[in-house]
Amino acid sequence: MVIIRIINELNDFIEKERLSGKRIGFVPTMGALHEGHLSLVSQCKQEVGCCVVSIFVNPTQFNDKRDFLTYPRTLKNDFKLLEASGCDCVFVPAKKVMYPEPDTRVFNLGKVAQVMEGKYRPNHFNGVVQVVSKLFDMVEPDYAYFGEKDYQQIAVIRTWVKQTKRRVTLIACPIVREADGLAMSSRNVRLTPEQRQIAPAIARTLAESRRLWPSKSVREVEEWVTTTLNRLPYLRVEYFAIVDGHSLRSIHEWRESQSPVGCIAVFCGDVRLIDNVKYELF
Ligand code: PAJ
Repeated sequence: MVIIRIINELNDFIEKERLSGKRIGFVPTMGALHEGHLSLVSQCKQEVGCCVVSIFVNPTQFNDKRDFLTYPRTLKNDFKLLEASGCDCVFVPAKKVMYPEPDTRVFNLGKVAQVMEGKYRPNHFNGVVQVVSKLFDMVEPDYAYFGEKDYQQIAVIRTWVKQTKRRVTLIACPIVREADGLAMSSRNVRLTPEQRQIAPAIARTLAESRRLWPSKSVREVEEWVTTTLNRLPYLRVEYFAIVDGHSLRSIHEWRESQSPVGCIAVFCGDVRLIDNVKYELF
């Protein structure tokens, strides 16, 4: 595995791989890697000849400065994990490589970027698309792997890829969970032991809510999930919305969508966690 920090070296590496007939698979990350990230790397390596991973904690997508400053950074360990997962190249750009000057681009991403995370984390997706567009320009991947834990992020990037007609195939990978169901996240290490014990209730409640479907109405399921979680110590639901899995528009009746998804953001203490559940296999 090669570790690359500057663009010229990245270009040389990619060119060499392409000349040897390989296609390029890409997994963008912000580091502090866990099994969730590594599942994308393994899938990428299985499906594509060359796997490039980037690690960059992107300041423009953090609407909360404290969240950016406290975001875990574990680079040495990340390198070890990536090497063991079959990654061929890890790209670790410095801030001045990604943003030699401030990025003032404003993307019009439509409705998918305005609801849920878009509503509660203003400018978050604009920052995500800023950095992903730069990374895609540098790596020019044939395939890019994203996790369904950030369900809305995939929908937003898919919209932007369509708008700009980029020739990259996006691959959505399933959520990887801890043994007790908690969706793996780099932020989980910030939970206190007491909060860590309560946090699996989020995934458990989402899973249980599938049993209410479709006999209870959409609103009833939304209310049940929200009140069940809000009753528990440390937890405060920011939103729970059942939406169409493609357009991310709210639905009122189950029959309005072939692929309903329930998306949630919950504060556990001051750590913000997200998760989602599909109400149909699709
Ligand atoms: P980050 O949070 O580091 O996540 C990198 C990728 O790993 C994302 O596609 C995310 O959905 C996926 N991932 C994280 N936890 C996962 C889990 N438990 N199961 C499956 N996949 C999981 O998402 C970002 O970084 C950034 O926004 C980025 C796209 C890199 C742009 O800065």
